[in-house]
Amino acid sequence: MKYLVSITLMAMLAGPAIAEQSTEHVEQSRAAVQQFFGQLKGELQAGMKAGGPVNAIEVCSDKAPAIARDVSKDKGLQIGRTSLKPRNPGNAPDQWEEAVLREFEQRKADGEHPKKMEKHAIVEQNGQQVFRYMKAIPTGELCLKCHGTQLDPAVSARLEKLYPEDRATGYSQGDLRGAFTISKNL
Ligand code: HEC
Repeated sequence: MKYLVSITLMAMLAGPAIAEQSTEHVEQSRAAVQQFFGQLKGELQAGMKAGGPVNAIEVCSDKAPAIARDVSKDKGLQIGRTSLKPRNPGNAPDQWEEAVLREFEQRKADGEHPKKMEKHAIVEQNGQQVFRYMKAIPTGELCLKCHGTQLDPAVSARLEKLYPEDRATGYSQGDLRGAFTISKNL
């Protein structure tokens, strides 16, 4: 909990200026997510069409981080993806992200649709104010080929080779696969 300062507390201390600033950051974050997701989905669909899911694995392992870097640079923030059960251990959540992912799971259990779930806050990290934002990623039908319960053996073999610590299988449609996550130094 050492870096965690809730948005409520910040708002109480800093007044409306922070709230206004946050709205701008939230809008920018939504745009960044849209850009990232749009590009990735396009690449993924094209990769699947061209060579099936085994081929498209490379799209996720190579293109996803590359698109994330481009969008981060373009928007002046850090964007990535995270999950409670990551495929790539490099996508494992930090403390704030883990708490939000658990909150998303709870909100889903309480009946909220994951499609529009998001959360933002201003936190202090190493003496630096950081705007943070997350948006839930539901599991769609397309995702099941690589994150579902019954994978094609060729897909499983390739995933095992690339991701020996893979935890990102066993999902059903509508499950929370993870979230987009954004940090921006203020
Ligand atoms: C062709 C296989 C494939 C398909 C289809 C696929 N993924 Fe993935 N997914 C991967 C791979 C490989 C990674 C690891 C990427 C990396 O190394 O950063 C990954 C990583 C992720 C991550 C980042 C967290 C983690 O587990 O490392 C999320 C979130 C995610 N996928 C969501 C989805 C969603 C949502 C869909 C459907 C729209 C989807 N994936 C479809 C292969 C796939």
